[in-house]
Amino acid sequence: MGPPEHHVAAKPVDSTPKPWYKRPAILAGAGAALVAVVLIIALPSALVTRHHGSGDSSGSSGSGSMAPTATATSTGTGVSSTFLPAPTGAGCGLSHTTGFSDNWDNHNIQSGGLTRNYSIYIPETYNDSNTKPWPLILDFHAFIRTGADEYNNSRYYNYTEGQQYLAVYPNGYDGRWYGAPYAHKDNDGDLQFVTDLLSHLNDTYCLDSNRMYVSGKSNGGGFADTLACSDHGDPFAAYAMASPALYTDNSESSCNKSRAILESHGAKDDTIAYNGGGSGDSKTPPIPEWTQWWAERNGCSSSDKPTTSQEKGYNTTAYSCNGFTNITEQYTVKDLGHCWPCSDGDNFDVQNYGSIKCADNSLDFTPVVLNWFGRWTKENGPKN
Ligand SMILES: *[C@@H]1O[C@H](CO)[C@@H](O)[C@H](O)[C@H]1NC(C)=O
Ligand SMILES: *[C@@H]1O[C@H](CO)[C@@H](O)[C@H](O)[C@H]1NC(C)=O
Ligand SMILES: *[C@@H]1O[C@H](CO)[C@@H](O)[C@H](O)[C@H]1NC(C)=O
Ligand SMILES: *[C@@H]1O[C@H](CO)[C@@H](O)[C@H](O)[C@H]1NC(C)=O
Ligand SMILES: *[C@@H]1O[C@H](CO)[C@@H](O)[C@H](O)[C@H]1NC(C)=O
Ligand SMILES: *[C@@H]1O[C@H](CO)[C@@H](O)[C@H](O)[C@H]1NC(C)=O
Ligand SMILES: *[C@@H]1O[C@H](CO)[C@@H](O)[C@H](O)[C@H]1NC(C)=O
Ligand SMILES: *[C@@H]1O[C@H](CO)[C@@H](O)[C@H](O)[C@H]1NC(C)=O
Repeated sequence: MGPPEHHVAAKPVDSTPKPWYKRPAILAGAGAALVAVVLIIALPSALVTRHHGSGDSSGSSGSGSMAPTATATSTGTGVSSTFLPAPTGAGCGLSHTTGFSDNWDNHNIQSGGLTRNYSIYIPETYNDSNTKPWPLILDFHAFIRTGADEYNNSRYYNYTEGQQYLAVYPNGYDGRWYGAPYAHKDNDGDLQFVTDLLSHLNDTYCLDSNRMYVSGKSNGGGFADTLACSDHGDPFAAYAMASPALYTDNSESSCNKSRAILESHGAKDDTIAYNGGGSGDSKTPPIPEWTQWWAERNGCSSSDKPTTSQEKGYNTTAYSCNGFTNITEQYTVKDLGHCWPCSDGDNFDVQNYGSIKCADNSLDFTPVVLNWFGRWTKENGPKN
């Protein structure tokens, strides 16, 4: 079964769809060098194909029922582990249908008394090395959107670096995530769902427990923040969020986790205002203040000043604390609205929310996120 239709109409599409990678990324300033590197690496490859509604044919329905292969076991425990990090879960050695699957019948778990669904992108080369531990990204969609929408919003699959990750797109109960004022009672189980999902994924795919990451947009980005503040977020090495709806953890003292945190925000965001606002359950903090909360949780003192850079169309702010370089990074995009920044084509936000200023193309956030995840592991990151 595919996902249900969206319950609420999207904002009108105000531009005709354009081909992806229609225009080159605008690169300006030394700070964009990392973006440039990723893009240059990404350009030659055209490996990605898209499989819609294709089932995952691994047949690993009894999670954990299949023993790890001999290779996986011996690599994990024997002397030959010099060459590979230890394969982790029982999912190592199983082949899977590669590409993107939105087939919820094959991708669901029981959690909190509900059938919870996820969509998944499995790199084309997965079967070739299904005993190697793969890094994982859990990417959470926006309010009333779906995992499939988010797949085409962050578009990890369209970058060579992104093709090195299993990307899983959990689907929220009724299209929403815990912590927002519009969340349902059934969203109370979302944090436990993440833990249950990780356990299932670890039994089904060959995951690197040292390199698991979280991203999200809007409601999904706010949930990523809530997850970061929770024990359920402990397995993840780093977090990245675009225009997060920061309704919860709305104070410095309500959270005591140390996490690698990357955020981007449009200065013209009318949904979750850069300068904060709202009241009661709908209150969100000013982004600079929220960023500083994370810096302090990460070991900076309130008097520590961030380093900043000014690029064409956006600024960056970064705090280095406790010996960790840029452990809290924030990007502010001058002319962007409530969107996942995209410079090189039309992501879901550009296609559906052009009217709320998603078409600003000064920053391509996805390669920034991939570079960010590449910097962090559970081992080298903050401990809690
Ligand atoms: C990204 O998508 C475009 C358009 O489909 C394609 O031409 C390009 O090869 C893709 N890049 C990668 C790295 O997959
Ligand atoms: C995956 O399973 C392995 C083996 O049981 C375990 O060591 C590892 O911690 C698990 N990782 C996660 C993220 O559950
Ligand atoms: C990977 O293995 C699955 C299950 O055997 C198979 O259906 C799929 O076609 C394979 N994909 C590739 C790219 O070889
Ligand atoms: C992702 O976007 C591409 C290009 O617009 C489209 O062809 C594809 O159907 C989309 N995939 C999903 C799952 O929405
Ligand atoms: C998961 O998908 C099934 C089948 O498409 C659907 O009946 C169920 O409501 C979904 N679960 C949630 C929590 O949305
Ligand atoms: C963080 O807060 C939790 C819950 O209030 C508490 O149990 C824990 O001891 C605190 N940890 C630190 C390091 O302060
Ligand atoms: C740290 O952030 C600053 C911007 O504040 C940037 O110029 C620098 O390149 C970043 N360093 C790393 C290692 O990411
Ligand atoms: C970027 O920084 C410069 C210098 O502080 C400032 O004038 C400009 O308004 C900033 N732009 C954004 C989008 O914050």
